[in-house]
Amino acid sequence: MPRTATVYLCRSCGGSHPKWLGKCPDCGAWDSLERFTPPREPPTGADAPAGGWSGADGERGGGARPLEEVSTAASPRERSGIVELDRVLGGGFVPGSVVLLGGDPGIGKSTLLLQAAARLADVGHAVLYVSSEESAQQIKLRAERILADAATAERGRRLFVLSETNLARIAEEARRVEPRLLVVDSVQMLWSSGVEAAPGSIAQLRRACLELVQLAKERGIAVAIVGHVTKEGELAGPKLLEHLVDVVLQFEGDRHQGHRVVRALKNRFGSTQEIGLFEMTATGLAELREGSLVLDAEKRVLPGSVCTAALAGSRSLIAELQALTATGLLGAARRRASGLDANRLAMLIAVLEKHGGLRLADQDVFAQATGGVRIVEPAADLALALAIAGAHYGRAAPAGFAALGEVGLTGEVRPVRHVEQRVAEVMRRGGRLIAVAQQQAAAAREILRQVQAHGARDGGAAPRIVGLSTLSAGVDLLQSG
Ligand code: TYD
Ligand code: MG
Repeated sequence: MPRTATVYLCRSCGGSHPKWLGKCPDCGAWDSLERFTPPREPPTGADAPAGGWSGADGERGGGARPLEEVSTAASPRERSGIVELDRVLGGGFVPGSVVLLGGDPGIGKSTLLLQAAARLADVGHAVLYVSSEESAQQIKLRAERILADAATAERGRRLFVLSETNLARIAEEARRVEPRLLVVDSVQMLWSSGVEAAPGSIAQLRRACLELVQLAKERGIAVAIVGHVTKEGELAGPKLLEHLVDVVLQFEGDRHQGHRVVRALKNRFGSTQEIGLFEMTATGLAELREGSLVLDAEKRVLPGSVCTAALAGSRSLIAELQALTATGLLGAARRRASGLDANRLAMLIAVLEKHGGLRLADQDVFAQATGGVRIVEPAADLALALAIAGAHYGRAAPAGFAALGEVGLTGEVRPVRHVEQRVAEVMRRGGRLIAVAQQQAAAAREILRQVQAHGARDGGAAPRIVGLSTLSAGVDLLQSG
């Protein structure tokens, strides 16, 4: 019988230590070690069951094979039909894989997964939605509210709900129902009788996660697990669970605003650059496929607002940056950024002072990206700097204006990456005047010609490109109207 020694696991980083310590030597977290007695080792050696992925052809393990002979033909993705979610997943749920969805309470995790479950049931797949927090009635009430529009008989038959916290019972039901997708909402409440620790403890979390991973691989089920976020904004037992699962998604947004963003922190089957945009409505989460902003040429632009085209993975979206300047205390002026990089804001204020002729030393400067999207790429520099200048001088940008440029410490406007994609997005969204770095003006005009040739714009005056070599030229542009 193998020896099972008690160890101490760190709740924060998952590190294992032979004795209890007040501070984890690996990650420095205080009071994070928890006693853990590993369960008896399962049989090892050649007689142990194969533990790898069940292949597309149903075979599992089967020994080492030359790479050439491994078939990739059938590695189907189960699209949820929620485009914004599928994109972040890398094309849909992968059978046999485990997705961990984290986020603050009330952000919409249960809603999102219930909607995805319903969509899969609509196309005829069995789906098992396990809630360890709500009763079956509560799930049904929620489902009726958010899915009332398109309830189908198919869905009613194929969407199974289970209110359960016992891991063994959940696994048993999953084996019976054989769902395409198993949702476990949430992992924090699960317990296994084989583990002597309270639900929510690191030992229980780890065990639950391991068993669900095993279940997914063994049955080729896609599993989605909900995890809560701790006060510090981290997934509870973060590193620990992140290592065990294939995909980690983070659901973000302001509870008090409608917008929600799903992003991948880890993805074995896709890019972690992609984001999915949603809006919380009275009838559940609505997708924001196009981003919500349109550069309306008819709309009056207010001073302190400048738009830019930001990139997130394969998508580009129009973002509005806003700034406000107000008289503050010389030497103690406040600079606050929301949804933006605070250091970048401080740098741009300094550049505006030095090279743009603005006096901001005694001005409080507040800046934000609207719509709950975080914009931290340097390509937004020019728009942010011009928003501040506009706020300071009380000058509005021209209607349908967007700025695409990085600003250097010397005050020059520098090229951005993927300028083609951004210019095309601005045009598609109704842009009229696009400021880019001087070096990219020719390329931008070329894109403009191509998009127009393809007739992607319907009527209206042709948009114009203006090339800027310095930030002060941009400030002049703003002041001349
Ligand atoms: P929920 O999915 O329960 O969040 P989580 O599982 O992440 O804790 O959603 C919670 C919030 O969303 C709740 O405060 C109410 C709101 N909501 C709506 O506005 N519209 C809806 O259709 C639903 C289902 C929830
Ligand atoms: Mg929930």
